[in-house]
Amino acid sequence: MSVSLFLSPERILFGWGSVEKTGEETLRYGSKALLVSGKSSSRANGALTTVMSSLAASGIEATLFCEVESDPSVHTVTTGAALARQSGASVVVALGGGSPLDAAKAIALMATNPGQIGDYEKTMPTQPGLPVVAIPTTAGTGSEVTKFVVVTDTERKVKMLINSPYLIPRTALLDPQLTLSVPPAFTAGPGMDALTHAIEAYQSSLASPTTDVFALSAIKLIGANLVQATLNGGNISARTAMLLGQLHAGLAFGNASVALVHAMSRPLGAHFGISHGQANAILLPWVMQFNLPACPEKFVCIAEALGCNTAGLSLRQAGQLSVSRVREIYADTGLPLTLSELGIPATAIPTLAGDAFQSGSVLFNPRKPTLTEIEQLYHACLTGK
Ligand SMILES: [Fe+2]
Repeated sequence: MSVSLFLSPERILFGWGSVEKTGEETLRYGSKALLVSGKSSSRANGALTTVMSSLAASGIEATLFCEVESDPSVHTVTTGAALARQSGASVVVALGGGSPLDAAKAIALMATNPGQIGDYEKTMPTQPGLPVVAIPTTAGTGSEVTKFVVVTDTERKVKMLINSPYLIPRTALLDPQLTLSVPPAFTAGPGMDALTHAIEAYQSSLASPTTDVFALSAIKLIGANLVQATLNGGNISARTAMLLGQLHAGLAFGNASVALVHAMSRPLGAHFGISHGQANAILLPWVMQFNLPACPEKFVCIAEALGCNTAGLSLRQAGQLSVSRVREIYADTGLPLTLSELGIPATAIPTLAGDAFQSGSVLFNPRKPTLTEIEQLYHACLTGK
């Protein structure tokens, strides 16, 4: 067995009311903070007020940067990093869904490193960033525990994946109560993203015994609770299970990486603005079907984690149940089932496939796809056949 390294935040706080510990946790890293959030949702649901009150109660001077858009751009990261330096912040508090968290992590890195965030797509940053206290308000990306950020280069129309251990937040603070008011579409999409993280990490060529434990736990928790959390948002136990599930998925894929689904979903976001979770949700069952012959025994474990009865079935039949169950969960959430419903034209497929084929995430897929096979997968996602 090869040696595996497992990276995670120094501190992970999980539980109802944990957001009230924001000030205390942040103070570990200094008394001047840059608070990074999205443009409206955290303000609307009261999370921003709660976080600011907690910071103030601990005597922390907070500068607000609430300009993060969906799919944060290089410009947003550059602007936020300049504000971090000007304000003398010694710590960044990240509040929101995947976009604000990714932006905050990138801002913290660029507050201490030269150049632009895009420079670190291919080279490693030389300095640790400012410490980050990350507080997710949706159950999906796992960004609060990972070494990845996705930043959009709007000129090149490319979603850049930046990967550095310096991007791992120092503290992750997860409070299920912050997710209670998330509307169905923003529950289902990120939830399918988290399920994709878990399944891709479990099948990844970088998977280890430690990441497998988290991946299977995530598949179990998300598989059993995503539909309930989507259709009945006030279900506290489903919301809590989803936040825990996406945390475990984040710990799994943060160390074992993602694979072909993510390679194919990023171009859909960059070229057509399709949300990350929605794109992954459509792609996931098709890519699972493609990967099934390469590692059927892993699909059997996925099927069992999803609650399927595999007794008496062949490896292939039992593995196939995992694909059917994922399709069923996805259909129950009510999200669009095909790329054509989202307005993607068939003429875009060569460009999408070309971008996906060049993605580093393909390297960790259990079955290495050809360019033609990626095109065929996009065609299947377009029509649902
Ligand atoms: Fe993702």
